[in-house]
Amino acid sequence: MSDKKPSPTTDREAARVRTLHRTTNILKMGLASLVPFLFAYTAYHINTLEVTGIRNLNCGAGDNQVTNGYVHLENGNLFFSLFEGKDEAKNNGLVVQFEGGPGATAFDYPFIGAGPCQLTPGGEPSLSGLTPAPYPWTEHANLLVVDFPIGAGWSYNTSDQSPASTSDKAAEEFDDFLQVILKQWPQFQRQPLILSTLSYGGTTGSHIASTVLKRNNEAKDQFWPSRVIKQFDQILFGNPYADAMSEIYAQWDVMCNTSPKGYNETICTHFRDDLTQCLDKLRYIDEVENTKELRLDAMKPCVKSPEIRFEAPLYNRYNRKEPRCYPTNLCFWWMGMLTEMMNSREMREWLGVTHHVERWWYAGPAMFRFANEADHMQSAYKLLSPVLEAGTRLLAYSGLEDTMVPYLGTISWMNRLPNPQLKTFRSSSAQTVSNDFFQGTVINPGSDVTLIGIEGAGHLVEQTHAALTQEMIRQAVQGKNYNPV
Ligand SMILES: *[C@@H]1O[C@H](CO)[C@@H](O)[C@H](O)[C@H]1NC(C)=O
Ligand SMILES: *[C@@H]1O[C@H](CO)[C@@H](O)[C@H](O)[C@H]1NC(C)=O
Repeated sequence: MSDKKPSPTTDREAARVRTLHRTTNILKMGLASLVPFLFAYTAYHINTLEVTGIRNLNCGAGDNQVTNGYVHLENGNLFFSLFEGKDEAKNNGLVVQFEGGPGATAFDYPFIGAGPCQLTPGGEPSLSGLTPAPYPWTEHANLLVVDFPIGAGWSYNTSDQSPASTSDKAAEEFDDFLQVILKQWPQFQRQPLILSTLSYGGTTGSHIASTVLKRNNEAKDQFWPSRVIKQFDQILFGNPYADAMSEIYAQWDVMCNTSPKGYNETICTHFRDDLTQCLDKLRYIDEVENTKELRLDAMKPCVKSPEIRFEAPLYNRYNRKEPRCYPTNLCFWWMGMLTEMMNSREMREWLGVTHHVERWWYAGPAMFRFANEADHMQSAYKLLSPVLEAGTRLLAYSGLEDTMVPYLGTISWMNRLPNPQLKTFRSSSAQTVSNDFFQGTVINPGSDVTLIGIEGAGHLVEQTHAALTQEMIRQAVQGKNYNPV
């Protein structure tokens, strides 16, 4: 794949633009002239946006502008691609999309249906092999994908930068990133802002939404705030992992207590034996004391070996209707193609990524950093309470065939999340839905806190139900949760 073929994409502009943003930076530059060695680095590198390429993506169904770049932060450098909305859609709103993991790259959704051009089974894994996506989000909104946290995908840190390894601190880095984006493109300050993520994004996304709100509130009290005050209008969570306890007992239920069973009796018995100890440890962390040591200790009974998690199951854990897959990069048809395309010289040049990242991994160094801190032994969903009270809507959707982050776990924490909608959510029983977009269930339709369950879909709903997720985006930028009823 390394030989370069003529590509239908042409560069509209390839110049590198470096923009300094903040008045604080200008101030620091003044200091820099006084104390050059101490401040020079800070002055030129913190909270700046570097455009690495403005491209035209055309896979046969019209032109699409994509702006690639880095936001340089104190602790590292976050890579993004801004897929501009088609025609009038560029005025509709901004959807910020990142992935789970933690530490998985954001570049799956844009190339499996959410962006204007997608990979095709059996097609070529290159820019010129992409075909028009039938239901791109860019028809209704601007799509900003960001490799978050630092160390995911094309994002990186140098040896003198120390990025966050836990989702609370990483949320501050995300907030700094978002401030730079909102200042660079002021039109997004006035448009609806949607936070879209999946899987572990339920945890990192909860921290992000709460950090943005907290910092907004702090800035309101400041005499001369430099901050752009902007709240998320909606959070869109796909198969979200937002509460370790709910997920772990829901996993046992789905794998060992529901047909078809995912494990044999031996594994299910071990799993069950560990459950009480695991939940006790998690409750202590949640209710009494949360330290790295306690989280690591909880992992022993709570987290099974990779072989038990991925090799032993009798079906594809990301979609139990599909055959068993191991190693896990074989669980998605597009994974190998995406990896090959991302690592091609053509793609590196098109994105303008730095030589600091030698190789693009679907799950990169950030995953190990977060795992070493046992960041996933927590209950982040509670952070959403003030966010929902402040008026942000929550739409969670879940593929019913997923056993990694089962629908049952999501119902469980949504049923406990204090917010103005909780009463109606709890009293709304799951309604069966069958429409042009999907078959499944919905809880609390037509409200600001809704959960949708999708039959036939697994962990990545976008892959099988692109028309449905596009409709969710269309409604989100119009100011409401998608209502399937
Ligand atoms: C990035 O930061 C992490 C955590 O501080 C560190 O372990 C790693 O070596 C850094 N990466 C590079 C390329 O120096
Ligand atoms: C259950 O599955 C595990 C993992 O695949 C295997 O090692 C073990 O032999 C199985 N036990 C039985 C009783 O089938």
